[in-house]
Amino acid sequence: MCGIVGYIGDREALPVLINGLKRLEYRGYDSAGVALLRNQIDVYKCKGKVSDLERFMGDAPHSGNIGMGHTRWATHGEPNDVNAHPHTSYNGKFVIIHNGIIENYARLRERLKERGVHFKSETDTEVLCNLIGYIYENSEVDAEMAVRLALSKVVGAYGLVVMCVDEPDKLIAARKGSPLVIGVGNEEYFLASDATPIVEYTKSVIYLNDGDVAIIRKEQLILKTSAQDVAVPKVQQLTFDIGEIDKGGYEHFMLKEIFEQPQSIEDTFRGRVRADELELHLGGLYEVLPQLVEAKRIVIIGCGTSWHAGLVGEYLFEDLARIPVEVEYASEFRYRNPIIHKDDIVIAISQSGETADTLAAIKLAKEKGALVLGICNVVGSSIPRETDAGVYTHAGPEIGVASTKAFTCQVTVLAMMAILIGKKKGVLSTERYHDLIKEFIKVPAKTQRILALADHIKKIASLYQNVTNALYLGRGYLFPVALEGALKLKEISYIHAEGYPAAEMKHGPIALIDDKMPVVVVATKDSSYEKIVSNIQEVKARSGIVIAVVTEGDTVIRDMADHVIEIPEAENVYATLLSVVPLQLLSYYIAVMRGCNVDQPRNLAKSVTVE
Ligand code: G6P
Repeated sequence: MCGIVGYIGDREALPVLINGLKRLEYRGYDSAGVALLRNQIDVYKCKGKVSDLERFMGDAPHSGNIGMGHTRWATHGEPNDVNAHPHTSYNGKFVIIHNGIIENYARLRERLKERGVHFKSETDTEVLCNLIGYIYENSEVDAEMAVRLALSKVVGAYGLVVMCVDEPDKLIAARKGSPLVIGVGNEEYFLASDATPIVEYTKSVIYLNDGDVAIIRKEQLILKTSAQDVAVPKVQQLTFDIGEIDKGGYEHFMLKEIFEQPQSIEDTFRGRVRADELELHLGGLYEVLPQLVEAKRIVIIGCGTSWHAGLVGEYLFEDLARIPVEVEYASEFRYRNPIIHKDDIVIAISQSGETADTLAAIKLAKEKGALVLGICNVVGSSIPRETDAGVYTHAGPEIGVASTKAFTCQVTVLAMMAILIGKKKGVLSTERYHDLIKEFIKVPAKTQRILALADHIKKIASLYQNVTNALYLGRGYLFPVALEGALKLKEISYIHAEGYPAAEMKHGPIALIDDKMPVVVVATKDSSYEKIVSNIQEVKARSGIVIAVVTEGDTVIRDMADHVIEIPEAENVYATLLSVVPLQLLSYYIAVMRGCNVDQPRNLAKSVTVE
């Protein structure tokens, strides 16, 4: 979290920085700031969003060909003007922007204070900045060495950019644990936390590795590893276009991304699920397939929506491949001394590929000798680079903080994996395998039909926009969908919502049921259909309100529920993909009607790069 941008070249830096910050605002939006270098370093920063910063800076010309900018998600110190980045060292020599956490900041701060260094903010970042400034002032070293020496004393994570007033021809960037990408132009360089601010200028990028320090001049980039060796930068080409990170005529990124799902699901299985030969190929797993087939256990790790996708994965792998699965929150996994055997397979799921808890869990699983696979969306991000093998979702850039298309693409990948392993293991007959492939191909068109129900769902949303609580129920494969539906509602509309296995309702949540709280039931036709019909009756018997997601033509539930949303018929494996879409739309419309900022909900960030 926190977005970082930097520029060095012949252009005016400010428009590049402001544009870039707007693209990165999904990473945090508590405060924003920029620093511009021309003879001196000018810093402008304030609490609020990038638009607040623009207002704060006004129309006066702000010139400089070197600069950096930051949009913050607060960790240390409340969001206010003083705690906003960039931070300037006490002696005015250095300016820094930082993403991550300096864990030993309190001790470093005390030591610097004892030596007479003054602090203005409550941030860990200012501590690092002052440490660099102090080392520079008290040793015979240049700016690069001052940065290196300071970083050697730091415990924690950082992606950072530094400018030094005495060396006005360069930016110094360093990475450990928090992502940084450098865009390579013609005698100009761009820097950012991810590639979205860069793609409109250049498609050639360099992803920094942990421990790397880059010294960037207009005409030259020097990359040094943690061992201080000069490394040849590996230039990669971006595979997405600027059009993919615009709203494309939709009111919000979230709505655009919900509507992109037919395409993104198809993009994710294109070339992998082959209708012509009725075969399934996953190139990224080719070498590890024998281990997957022999796996005694799969452990899936992730956070937030990715964890929910992992729960769907549990049903898929156990049902289709008969492999026992455990699904763990990445944060919990790390801290409870997990038992991992060498023949366990660990699958890490992450849209961003940068979630700190997931990355740390991967490192632990690798230390314990497990084969670790990744399911990620952002190409070149940290998780694909840390894992032994993996499969990319091809959802395209997801900007809305509430994850939508990433979830359905993650489930698409998990379904492909489970079907493939099931077939290779001999659990699935050829006939069943072919049927599953034929049904797979139909998912995008079915998703499209659900999107056509948007107006109907909007009407339902208008009736419940003012509720304070909601309950989401599902069974089996559809239980994780209920969890995801509840998460979507609470994160963007701030309505308290809980997801529950429908049968568990009677062990607690049933006490909440009244004529005000909507109960959203995911009740498509599957093996436990009769049971969930009974659960709906239990809600109705207590004057509850039922909004049911059902299979087209279901007259039984239509007669019982207050509202039904009919989705195309699909077996369990694919019903998860379809049934989540109306829940995404329901949350979206309720949040918009409540006046919430759906793309940037309060207190959240898209990419959580702190533990
Ligand atoms: C944040 C986001 C969620 C996301 C979670 C995991 O909390 O707001 O939408 O599901 O992080 O992110 P990842 O990038 O690892 O999937």
